[in-house]
Amino acid sequence: MTSPAQIEELKTLVEPGKVLLDADSLNTYGKDWTKQFAPAPTAIVFPKTIEQVQAIVRWANQHKVALVPSGGRTGLSAAAVAANGEVVVSFDYMNQILDVNLTDRTAVCQPGVVTEHLQNVAEEKGLYYPVDFASAGSSQIGGNIGTNAGGIKVIRYGMTRNWVAGMKVVTGKGDLLELNHDLIKNATGYDMRQLFIGAEGTLGFVVEATMRLDRAPKNLTAMVLGTADLDSIMPVLHAFHGKLDLTAFEFFSDKALANVMARGDVPSPFDTECPFYALLEFEATTEEVANLALEIFENCVEQGWVLDGVMSQNQTQLQNLWKLREYISETISHRTPYKNDISVTVSKVTAFLQEIDAIVAEDYPDFEVVWYGHIGDGNLHLNILKPEDLDKDEFFARCATVNKRVFETVEQYNGSISAEHGVGLVKRDYLTYSRSPVEIEYMKALKAVFDPNGIMNPGKIFAV
Ligand code: MLT
Ligand code: ZN
Repeated sequence: MTSPAQIEELKTLVEPGKVLLDADSLNTYGKDWTKQFAPAPTAIVFPKTIEQVQAIVRWANQHKVALVPSGGRTGLSAAAVAANGEVVVSFDYMNQILDVNLTDRTAVCQPGVVTEHLQNVAEEKGLYYPVDFASAGSSQIGGNIGTNAGGIKVIRYGMTRNWVAGMKVVTGKGDLLELNHDLIKNATGYDMRQLFIGAEGTLGFVVEATMRLDRAPKNLTAMVLGTADLDSIMPVLHAFHGKLDLTAFEFFSDKALANVMARGDVPSPFDTECPFYALLEFEATTEEVANLALEIFENCVEQGWVLDGVMSQNQTQLQNLWKLREYISETISHRTPYKNDISVTVSKVTAFLQEIDAIVAEDYPDFEVVWYGHIGDGNLHLNILKPEDLDKDEFFARCATVNKRVFETVEQYNGSISAEHGVGLVKRDYLTYSRSPVEIEYMKALKAVFDPNGIMNPGKIFAV
């Protein structure tokens, strides 16, 4: 436990007022969007410079204090939860874009830059930051890197990893590493940048990141298609993917749609009720491309895969169709969902989905199950909603039992138990379903190199 004298010392390392100890702040900054864990940090510290981050890490080493990095706190695996008296290091005051280089097409970001801010600045410069998801208005670049955030455009642009040109990190020893110097080509040994991406702050803290930008897409156009059943979604993907350069291919179930519709402020896509829906997006660069999309759509109807569909004709319609998908997570969050974020290679999705769906139907007959996700990437979000009258702990315990069967299936398919949300505390005990024991030993050995005293987000990814 951190002593009052140690906290006084911590205060001297940052600007006045930048250590908070009040109950409200501890409660707010001690958790992310995960609902399973009660926040219990000792203090929240807000560095403003890289040197201050280094000083905090050295202080933590000296006193053996555990640190938890905190960004937009939109995580869903409790990687940013401080449940054990840790000191939370918030990057809220390191939130500037320091430079945009139009020749290199890069933006130098402090870790607390909000994703949407980067997207907007890129747009102002005629460029594009393509990593996007519903929480882009709150999530921060440092957190995105910590979890290697994915989202809705991965099918075309890949994960956050693909967009990190260079990075400055403070390791668990307090050293500052400048990784890759934003180079496109650099064959000088280990690319340690990659180790810190997706490491959930367990090796060190990202204190600056140069993010790559892309050309802006032209005339993005979305289609929402109602499919006859779950099995029809992948044939629809293959029909479109072969002929159009898709920027997104998402799916959601009727139950997911019903939750979004219940908000009352999003137009329904069409009247036909369908069990599942696909949302796809492409650049309609010419009229021919738009006509081709309609042709493929008609073919999918003829095949019996698609029952109805709609294509956006302008920006507003594009945005409204995206709301059908992007609002799902938020609209079900008050139902305390038990969230699964699983993936397999795209070729295995059909068989995998059938198996998981059968398990879910058998084991959750009395729970509401909501499917959605980035099916074009092989990433499925399976959300089990808590019945109102069931106690939260009992609900999570029942879900954990079924989880075992779900994860055994993931393992058989060589899939991932966490495609994009991260391991954190939530998936930690299931890591062996996706990583071999020897691999985990190497991961632990790496942690010991960068964080010998085990102060960087301990207990996340694997138990201490
Ligand atoms: C999404 O795809 O909507 C996000 O990953 C959040 C979620 O899974 O709820
Ligand atoms: Zn997602």
